[in-house]
Amino acid sequence: MEPVKLDDFEPAAEAILPKGVFDYIAGGAEDEATLRGNRQAFARYQFRFKILASADQPDLTSEVLGQRFRMPVHLAPTAIQRMAHPDGEAAAYQAASDAGVAFCLSTLSSLSIEEVAAAGKGVRWFQLYMHPERAISASFVERALDAGYGAILLTVDLPLAGRRERDIRNVFSLPDGVSYANLAGRRTRVTAAGLDPFAQDVNAETHPGLNWGDLEWLTKKTSLPVIVKGVVRADDARHAVDAGARGILVSNHGGRQLDYAIASLDALPELVDAVGKAVPVLMDGGVRRGTDVIKALCLGASGVLLGRPYLYALAVGGADGVRRMLAMLRDELEVSMTLLGVKTLSELSKDLLVRISD
Ligand SMILES: Cc1cc2nc3c(=O)[nH]c(=O)nc-3n(C[C@H](O)[C@H](O)[C@H](O)COP(=O)(O)O)c2cc1C
Repeated sequence: MEPVKLDDFEPAAEAILPKGVFDYIAGGAEDEATLRGNRQAFARYQFRFKILASADQPDLTSEVLGQRFRMPVHLAPTAIQRMAHPDGEAAAYQAASDAGVAFCLSTLSSLSIEEVAAAGKGVRWFQLYMHPERAISASFVERALDAGYGAILLTVDLPLAGRRERDIRNVFSLPDGVSYANLAGRRTRVTAAGLDPFAQDVNAETHPGLNWGDLEWLTKKTSLPVIVKGVVRADDARHAVDAGARGILVSNHGGRQLDYAIASLDALPELVDAVGKAVPVLMDGGVRRGTDVIKALCLGASGVLLGRPYLYALAVGGADGVRRMLAMLRDELEVSMTLLGVKTLSELSKDLLVRISD
C-alpha cells in the first residue's frame, strides 16, 4: 500500500528491515511511556479555527538563527542511518536540502562529517555527544566548522544510554558493514552485563558526568551557535542561555532516555515563556502530522524536528522516500493552515488552541 501519511512508512519499513534494526528505531526506554506520551500530548490540543480568512496558499517560510527555511520542519540527528538504507545520512541530507530544511548529523553517524557535507547544499547542523575526553569533542566541533555546518546541537539528555529493552532482548549491535564513521574505527565496547552491545558503544562515547561546565566550555570553544538538545525545564533553559546557548531544543530523545519524562509538547510552553524572547525554542518528539507542527508553533516553537518518520521513509525509498515524506508533511501543513484560517506562521498563537482535559 502506497504511503499517504507519515505513519504509513512505519509498517512499510518494518516489512523491509531486520527485526533488530526496526526495533532499535521504533523502540523507547523501559515501559515506553514517554514514547506514547509524546503522541498523546498532541491529541489533547484542538483548534479554534478562524473563518472567511482568505488563507489560501499559506506562507510556510521560517527562520532559525538567521538561517531561512522553506518550512519549519527539520530532520533530527539519528545514529547510524546506513542500517536503514545503504545511502544513509547522505540520502537524508539530500532530501532535506531539496526541501529547504535543516539536516542534523549525529556524532554516531555512519557517514562522516565531511562525506555528508559533500552530499548536499542545504543547511546542516552537527549534533554533539560530549566525549569523556574533551580533546575528542573539540576535534568534532572543529571538523563541523571546517565542513560548513551552521550550528552545534549539544545533546544533554544522554549522559548514558537509556534502557531500551527491545534492544536488550535482541542483543542489538552495529550491523555488519556499518560503522561509526566519525570515530576512525574506534570501537571501545565494554562488556557490561545485561546491556546490548550498541548501548555499550554509546556509553563508551559519551560523558557520564556531563555537566554545566561542559556546556560553558563548548560555547566558549566554538564560534558556531550552540543549541542545547534535551531540555524540559524552564530553570535549565535559563541556565543554558546564561551559559551561552543560542537555542533550546525541547526534547526527551523521542522517549528513548528517561522513561516517564514529560511529553515534549507539554514542556514546550514553560520553556517558551522562560527563554523564548531571547533564543529560538525548537521541539521534537511525536511530530507526525501537519497539524502537530502547527500546534507546536501555536505554543511558541520556532520549528520542529522529526526523528523516526524519516528513518522509515529512508528505509522504504532512500532519498526519494524522505523527499516524499517531507512533501506529504508540507501538503498537510498547507491544507491545515488554510483550514485554520492562517496565512503566515507568525500568526500562529495559543489563541487558536484549546487543551482538552485528560
Ligand atoms: C533510531 C534513533 C536514533 C537516534 N539517535 C540520536 C543521536 O544519535 N543523537 C541525538 O541527539 N538524538 C538521537 N535520537 C533522538 C532524535 O534526535 C529525536 O530527539 C527523536 O527521534 C524525536 O522523536 P520522534 O522520533 O518521535 O520524532 C535518535 C532517535 C532515534 C529514533
